[in-house]
Amino acid sequence: MPDLFHPQMMDYLERLVPKRHEIMLEMEARAREIGFPIIGIAGGQFLYLIARMMKATRIFELGSGYGYSTAWFARAVRENGGGVVHHVVWDENLSSQARDYLGRLGYSDIVQFHVAEAVETLKATTGPFDLIFNDIDKTGYPASIPVIKEKLRPGGVLLLDNMLWHGAIFNPADASEATRAIHETTRLLTQDPQFISSLIPIRDGIMLSYYVP
Ligand SMILES: C[S@@+](CC[C@H](N)C(=O)[O-])C[C@H]1O[C@@H](n2cnc3c(N)ncnc32)[C@H](O)[C@@H]1O
Repeated sequence: MPDLFHPQMMDYLERLVPKRHEIMLEMEARAREIGFPIIGIAGGQFLYLIARMMKATRIFELGSGYGYSTAWFARAVRENGGGVVHHVVWDENLSSQARDYLGRLGYSDIVQFHVAEAVETLKATTGPFDLIFNDIDKTGYPASIPVIKEKLRPGGVLLLDNMLWHGAIFNPADASEATRAIHETTRLLTQDPQFISSLIPIRDGIMLSYYVP
């Protein structure tokens, strides 16, 4: 991540997160090693906090990678009394790594795996969901919002990662498709009276949007 914050900020926030299960530490080490864009330690703790606070038992993730964010949600769902977390990624290899990690964490009974395009999978899956987390390719964000609104329960929560987009959103000359998609998604969520939204500046920015009942 570039220097969006005080140089000690992310390290400080991460040190406030209690020690994770050794397999989650393994997943964190792997992200560092191969440069894979997981939500990060403070980001994961934030997803977990929201899921616990709202007692979520039905969670749908779009763009799940090898299952790090899924592990935080599965932990919350287990502690909330059980339920389901949908893990969706279009790479077979990442899905199989996720099955391995989440199996070793003891969450096989909670996580449902889909190897497919995430928005199409959400469309085809029976809702409603308490919480939807979106981390797909950023160009896909704007078109995902109407589908998410159909599947989120009133009173539910939408979380989206990368809403600061490495600071690219501060550059008015950046007209790349991904940056325009982040601006458009921000507009869609902050100007929609059906959502109350706040952009949380953890790592690359997590948008928290409450779907008003
Ligand atoms: C940023 S990574 C996910 C990180 C994960 N949420 C975590 O924090 O551990 C996004 C993943 O979703 C996949 N992906 C991107 N767009 C997708 C889409 N439309 N449908 C399915 N998978 C997608 C990418 O290939 C990548 O593996």
